[in-house]
Amino acid sequence: MKALITAGGHGTRLRPITHTQNKHLIPIANKLMLAYALDYAKEAGIDEAGIIINGGDTSIEKAFGAGEDFGLKITYIEQSAPLGLAHVVKTAETFIGSDPFVFYLGDNILVGGIKKFIDDFNSHGSNCHLVLSEVPDPNRFGVADVKDGKIIGIEEKPKNPKSDLAVTGIYVYDSHIFEAVNNIKPSARGELEISDAHQYLLEKGYSVSYSEITGWWKDTGKPSDLLEANRLVLDNIKDERKGKIDSASTVSGRVVLGEGTKVTNSNIRGPVIIGNNVGIEGAYVGPYSAIGDGCEIINSEIEYSILMNDCRISNISRRIEASLLGSDVELLRSKSKPVTHRFILGDQSRVEID
Ligand code: G1P
Repeated sequence: MKALITAGGHGTRLRPITHTQNKHLIPIANKLMLAYALDYAKEAGIDEAGIIINGGDTSIEKAFGAGEDFGLKITYIEQSAPLGLAHVVKTAETFIGSDPFVFYLGDNILVGGIKKFIDDFNSHGSNCHLVLSEVPDPNRFGVADVKDGKIIGIEEKPKNPKSDLAVTGIYVYDSHIFEAVNNIKPSARGELEISDAHQYLLEKGYSVSYSEITGWWKDTGKPSDLLEANRLVLDNIKDERKGKIDSASTVSGRVVLGEGTKVTNSNIRGPVIIGNNVGIEGAYVGPYSAIGDGCEIINSEIEYSILMNDCRISNISRRIEASLLGSDVELLRSKSKPVTHRFILGDQSRVEID
């Protein structure tokens, strides 16, 4: 069994963060999004992974190299153009060969990994195994029509969904999927849709089995999805405090404090993860915050937020909440008169003030 993991696309709904970095490298609880997929693949007993990247993007390879840190052998495969998920599978045909494989969309985060789904595929002995999840907004996804415990149809983003069961971005296939992706035609939006490949398998009489995710699953398209994914991962962290906490500070709940981090005269209320060499002074860091390495939080309050590395927040009077800050962002109270709001913001930045 191999893994094929996507790390391409443009992350348009996560701008401006994705103007300067691949969305799959955004940290969730201080761990890169794509690292979850790689860890889950390894846990499932997989040794070899292909990662699909946009042409010319070297950032993913810089982050994960040949895969030694994950116990995987990673091959990077460029997709010539964003022509759909079935086109991704087509692009990887040589890499996959005749092995069964798990196709995993790198922006899908779920609790509990993927081993169970691979086991279910093996025990069903099917040609294709889909992972379904009940959602409130099925028209945003591929949707399965299920009758008497069997999938009888799959539609991509239907206007009138036949069920509320979304097809999540975890698929297990044998090599018949290549027959499907090589025989379907582009959809109205000009893409080879993975749902059309699944529908092809059903129509040709191949067996398509499924599992339902009962726990949490999210495809992280929007900032609010990232914050929710972050919350979920932090809900399961274990307390581990390496940094220094002075006697004037209170640290309660499950808190991960990295090396070289100093907490002075502050209140930290977990679950919270704080990276290495972070300075926290006269501050409050509340539940579901993930603070990257090298950040500084001084005389300010923050909760339910993600700060990437080297951010500086100083003397902000209102609590910062539900926020996503890229690397090296500064939020400071202005010292000089007149006291005004002064912004230097990249394209598509978003600021809310009272
Ligand atoms: C893609 C698939 C869709 C699936 C979803 C899961 O949609 O086309 O069938 O339900 O991933 O994340 P996209 O995220 O490209 O809109």
